[in-house]
Amino acid sequence: MTMNGHQLTKQDIEQAKQNKNYSFFTKIFSSESDSTRYFVLRKIGRLPRDFPFEVFTDLVKTSNHNIRVLLVKNLGKSENPSFIDLLSRIAATDTNSNVRRECVSSIGRIGTQTAISILLKFLEDRDSRVVVQAIRGLLPFRHNKDVKSALQKVNLMDDEVVGQTIKEMISDKQKVKVKQPLQTIHNGFTNSFSNTLICGDCRKILKQVPDNVLHLCFTSPPYYNAKDYSIYRSYKDYLDFLTRVFREVYRVLQEGRFFILNTSPVLVPRMSRKHQSQRYLIPFDIHPCLIDIGFDFIDDIIWVKPEPSAKNRNGGFLQHRKPLAYKANSVCEYVIVYRKHTNKLIDWNLRQYSNETVEKSKVRGEYEKSNVWHIAPSTSKFHPAVFPKELTSNVIKFYSFTDDIIFDPFAGSGTVGTVACELGRKFFLIEKEESYCDNFLKLSPNALFTKYLSQNQFLEELQRMKLLNNKITTK
Ligand SMILES: C[S@@+](CC[C@H](N)C(=O)[O-])C[C@H]1O[C@@H](n2cnc3c(N)ncnc32)[C@H](O)[C@@H]1O
Repeated sequence: MTMNGHQLTKQDIEQAKQNKNYSFFTKIFSSESDSTRYFVLRKIGRLPRDFPFEVFTDLVKTSNHNIRVLLVKNLGKSENPSFIDLLSRIAATDTNSNVRRECVSSIGRIGTQTAISILLKFLEDRDSRVVVQAIRGLLPFRHNKDVKSALQKVNLMDDEVVGQTIKEMISDKQKVKVKQPLQTIHNGFTNSFSNTLICGDCRKILKQVPDNVLHLCFTSPPYYNAKDYSIYRSYKDYLDFLTRVFREVYRVLQEGRFFILNTSPVLVPRMSRKHQSQRYLIPFDIHPCLIDIGFDFIDDIIWVKPEPSAKNRNGGFLQHRKPLAYKANSVCEYVIVYRKHTNKLIDWNLRQYSNETVEKSKVRGEYEKSNVWHIAPSTSKFHPAVFPKELTSNVIKFYSFTDDIIFDPFAGSGTVGTVACELGRKFFLIEKEESYCDNFLKLSPNALFTKYLSQNQFLEELQRMKLLNNKITTK
């Protein structure tokens, strides 16, 4: 970016502001190139009250819509009601939807009573993003009779984006701000049960875990009836079972924290040569249940295994090459990322940690950049379906902080616990098979620090801490 051949920097802009050298801006906006104007508008930052905001109005007629967006954004910083008319005219006539949206946002930002009648008009705009900005601008006036009734009507609009935004904006304003950081809530539970393995049925145990106490859940549930430890009467029963467990997972996770679910389609072998085998697309079938519970879908990661590790399904086809009999070898599993619903941005979660913890938790060096992760599977003589450590480590590093409690309700051999400790996190595991729990303790270098409880011992301990949910007895 140059001005009279001089390389323009952010410091030049800061200096001009500090020295009240406002002709610097007039000159740039009236005679410099679009790229220089854009650079200055983008870097101009906070503006003092006595800034001559009129300098921006020279740009109203520019054909570059990116410049128009920034010009109206900067006019909003003036908090000067005399610009409302101009902004309202641009909002009504501009052909670019980003410019119109930014105008309405600026009118809201100026935020005087004069703005109310104009913002009310934009509640009927054809573009839902403009409507959302009008609502934001009107929220401070929501106790005004006209505003209240208009907002109630918008609520009825058949527009998912608008409906959701209004719900969130209104509930956010009404919520009592919790000053205490979330980590300190239920300290009793997290202190007592970090690095704990409970041997029992996760449906019963989870019912006793308080709300909002765990930081990340990474799990791989039983694979329907594909392995002998998982016998369900029907596929529907199986999905109902998972939904019940995941509803509890949602409850015990802290707001805005992640639930990472590893599943894959499964094949239930045919009973005899006369029957067909049956395949179930578990990740796709469970997805609507998770959305229904309240999770937000964030990412779909495909875990790809080397081809030789997949069961060969096309031996026959290789010989006869007849259409319809083709079967692909299945080399991938799904690692689907969900987040417990919140209307807060990730920054809100980050702010709950000290700078030191954030620094310690940074993901350093090489990392997976795409949603296709090539990782070899792991095997264990103690468990038929263990997570590879690399997969577990990626998930824990990307979605948790040092000292967080990582939860796995279907812990199996306890890979999540082992890797959590290696990465300076803590774990809370549930596994129903005693032999898997025993092996975890036998093989884990952290066995000495692991609290190993049966279902009843867990309930007794909760009772002692007066955290037991009274509805359920220890029997
Ligand atoms: C796919 S394996 C998990 C393996 C694990 N990711 C690992 O790395 O070893 C699923 C586990 O869920 C356990 N399980 C099944 N139903 C359960 C229940 N109701 N409560 C707790 N664990 C259960 C099974 O015993 C099995 O070990």
